[in-house]
Amino acid sequence: MTKRVEVLADKPALIQRCLELILEKLHAAIAERGRFTLALSGGSTPKPLYEAMAQQDLPWDQIHVFWGDERYVPPDHPDSNEGMARAAWLNQVPIPAINIHPMPTDAADPAVAAQTHEQELRQFFQVQPGSFPGLDVILLGMGDDGHTASLFPHTEALLARHSLVTVGNKDGQPRLTFTVPFINQAHCVIFLVAGASKQPALAEIFAPVADEMTYPARLIQPQGELWWLLDQAAGENLSLA
Ligand code: 6PG
Repeated sequence: MTKRVEVLADKPALIQRCLELILEKLHAAIAERGRFTLALSGGSTPKPLYEAMAQQDLPWDQIHVFWGDERYVPPDHPDSNEGMARAAWLNQVPIPAINIHPMPTDAADPAVAAQTHEQELRQFFQVQPGSFPGLDVILLGMGDDGHTASLFPHTEALLARHSLVTVGNKDGQPRLTFTVPFINQAHCVIFLVAGASKQPALAEIFAPVADEMTYPARLIQPQGELWWLLDQAAGENLSLA
């Protein structure tokens, strides 16, 4: 794993840098393998990034979009990560519908939905149980509590070792989330983090020692590249020694 940390002057600079990095990985993947696979993060931080992606002239038929986690709500619900990314980006570009791979949230039991999506992923990547496909880029955010995707502190989701997708839990609300081992199989993981409220968790995540169950983002140690892209407000007091 190679780890790179960049602190950008402000949020617009952070978004621009993340866009540049994603486009660099996108063109390289398409040149090498004829396709680019990207998993999106949710929350509020990435929305301007998705709006910027909508302005790009790209080979959309060679780009496949996934989500690293999803709130267990319909796509037209205001909390839906899928709904946000479609409105900000995917509805604005000619990407084939079959290239968009949302996490299903229509089953009564989220565990069934997780298994369904797991099968969809295994089918797409042509991988058998026991092995983990490597996405080209997985974009992640980080909560003020140090969670990432829907891997919340001291939850069962942190312990999943064999599945690609599992059920997360935020204050009793079900989520679907990529698992730690699946995320760690990525060629490139990019954390996009903005705002002073992230400083305390970042200090713990970058500390030499801290409890990984309390700060789940520490568990993200991909076999490929790990990028932390921070704005000044988030990263100004971080000791990066
Ligand atoms: C989600 C996200 C989650 C998010 C962080 C940061 O579904 O909410 O995937 O992991 O990235 O909570 O959220 P903000 O960008 O809103 O701070």
